[in-house]
Amino acid sequence: MGTKRHFRVWRGDSAGGDIEDFDVEVNEGEVVLDIIHRLQATQTPDLACRWNCKAGKCGSCSMEINGKPRLGCMTRMSTFEEDETVTITPLRTFPVIRDLVTDVSFNYDKARETPAFAPPPGVAPGDYRMQQVDVERSQEFRKCIECFLCQNTCHVVRDHEENKAAFSGPRYFIRAAELDMHPLDDREDRKEYAQSHQGMGLCNITKCCTEVCPEHIKITDNAIIPMKERVVDRRYDPLVWLGRKIFRRDQLDGDGMAPSSSVGVTDVAKGAPFTTNRGPEGPEVREDGRMDVTEVTLPTQGGPSPFGDQEFPLPSGRVAYQPPAPQYGVHDDGQDGDHGTDGHHQAH
Ligand code: SF4
Ligand code: SF4
Ligand code: FES
Repeated sequence: MGTKRHFRVWRGDSAGGDIEDFDVEVNEGEVVLDIIHRLQATQTPDLACRWNCKAGKCGSCSMEINGKPRLGCMTRMSTFEEDETVTITPLRTFPVIRDLVTDVSFNYDKARETPAFAPPPGVAPGDYRMQQVDVERSQEFRKCIECFLCQNTCHVVRDHEENKAAFSGPRYFIRAAELDMHPLDDREDRKEYAQSHQGMGLCNITKCCTEVCPEHIKITDNAIIPMKERVVDRRYDPLVWLGRKIFRRDQLDGDGMAPSSSVGVTDVAKGAPFTTNRGPEGPEVREDGRMDVTEVTLPTQGGPSPFGDQEFPLPSGRVAYQPPAPQYGVHDDGQDGDHGTDGHHQAH
């Protein structure tokens, strides 16, 4: 026999809704999705919730639990205090369909826009050969279960519907990085595409996406930052600059580019070079190769929760990442600062 615990669950649809209170039995070893199933079985048979595997692999049961984006099937009830109220709300960045089910088609649109894998001309499927060492870096990104928790968390689109057209989001930045690092992908322009069409410039490396990824993919450190660095390299490396002056643009970017193999995607995905930028753009890279700090200038502050009393962005005490200190050097205690590889402090 378990114990009675207090739950608050948002119920409603696109026209509006409210948080409802429930007292539900909780047994040892259960996860939040178990409690939702018990609610459906005993008190609210029409409570809508999306799920499939109950094993953290299908990415369906994404929701916000006490304000933090999580998988319902991977959130153990033992992570909460015995007397703690558990509040469950839908993903906030996507339109609500009903109760905990949201319309995540934004992500499918962005997936279709992302240029697909483009093998070298003349290499047939079945003739692709790679060594494990060739795929070490990009393999991490293949762990993605498309739960869209990172997309839901990113402040560029959370509460900012107006940015969605110009911003693909972290899940598609790792897709771009994965293909950019793929030994058999023949496209040379993935970095530029990420910057000018996927809106990577709007990302200011807050690492909130990394914080919530249930697959522990280091989205920011291993995908976004390397891609940003390569954009800077291409624009400011003197040898690359010289090369771009000597060769014609079509020799550098488009000529001989293999078409992507997917059907029914955009012209760019099929291999056509892209020609126009889409706004709003992120900050420019300055002549010294740095970008301005944009946290305080971009209109990306979180608004009040539409689902009640949830606090977001996450309280700073609950995220590991802290903004970089303005100056690197020696601390008051005389020790060299530990700034990690990207110059960011990690809280412990
Ligand atoms: S690092 Fe921050 S701004 Fe960049 S994609 Fe992730 S959540 Fe969005
Ligand atoms: S990168 Fe992580 S958080 Fe984002 S969709 Fe994939 S598994 Fe989910
Ligand atoms: S039900 Fe599949 S990830 Fe939770």
